[in-house]
Amino acid sequence: MRKYNRAAIDLKDLVYPLFIKDGTGMREEIPSMPNIYRFSPDTIVREAREIVKQGIRTILLFGLPHKKDRNGSDAYKKDSAVASAVRNLKRDFPGLIVTTDVCLCAYMSHGHCGVIRPGQKTIAHKATLEALSRMALSHAEAGADYVAPSAMAKGQVLSIRKALDAYGFKNTKIMGYSAKYASNFYGPFRDAANSSPAFGDRSAYQLGFSDSAQAMKEIAVDIREGADIVMVKPALAYLDIIKEAASRFRAPLAAYNVSGEYAFIKHGARLGYWDERKMVFEIMTSIKRAGADLIITYHAKDIARWLKEQ
Ligand code: PBG
Repeated sequence: MRKYNRAAIDLKDLVYPLFIKDGTGMREEIPSMPNIYRFSPDTIVREAREIVKQGIRTILLFGLPHKKDRNGSDAYKKDSAVASAVRNLKRDFPGLIVTTDVCLCAYMSHGHCGVIRPGQKTIAHKATLEALSRMALSHAEAGADYVAPSAMAKGQVLSIRKALDAYGFKNTKIMGYSAKYASNFYGPFRDAANSSPAFGDRSAYQLGFSDSAQAMKEIAVDIREGADIVMVKPALAYLDIIKEAASRFRAPLAAYNVSGEYAFIKHGARLGYWDERKMVFEIMTSIKRAGADLIITYHAKDIARWLKEQ
């Protein structure tokens, strides 16, 4: 049996999410997520210098557009906040592994993850796949190493894989948000990315939390469609899903320790309820113990600092 302890948490297995907003000179703290900021494509470079120096190897970028509209058109502009940030980052830090989130919710006036036609309430599937593929292409052109479709649209991995191959981006990899639950733990993220749905919820395209069988099917489908990494999200309330996925599939498995899980620990630590560092190591170890290869976590910078202090 492998024994997991503090030493099992390795910086190379952590992915640090970052929020990029259109503009210049920006560094604004997100109130619901202490110590997490929104950067503009210029200020992200200085932040990345620190991240790289700390030994973090992989980041995941989320974009906030200048303006939202019914087509989410800012999502696939050549000079979107994310594409510009990727260009700047790959120019200065070619070795940094840059992953980009590919989803429309932050770019749509209605806040849903796909295209919705006027007068309709449900997602137009084909138009959504096209928009997601264009978005992924714009990130690949900017130099992204991985694109990470998170819209939970059927066939999104295959559609993006085909688009990337057709335009000569065979080396751009895909991390699928394969088993993504309609979770209450995303609250602070929606505040950070200003991406709450204007009506309804995401239960039509995200998994219900009592399910486990469908989650396994979604992961199998993503692998078949060409995902290089698959993901379970959130992490803590879904350790059983992570464990099952790890035992069933050989593909690299990521777990997303989401915004609500982060905020919970941070705010509790600020109130003196627990030792933040001990809490974070216990949580990270539990996610590893369940079988995740990679952990996407807002705690990554703190962990890097704590590991050095030991
Ligand atoms: C977009 C997306 C969400 C998260 C990552 N990508 C939010 C959602 O589905 O509403 C949540 C991440 C987090 O809570 O840290 N589809």
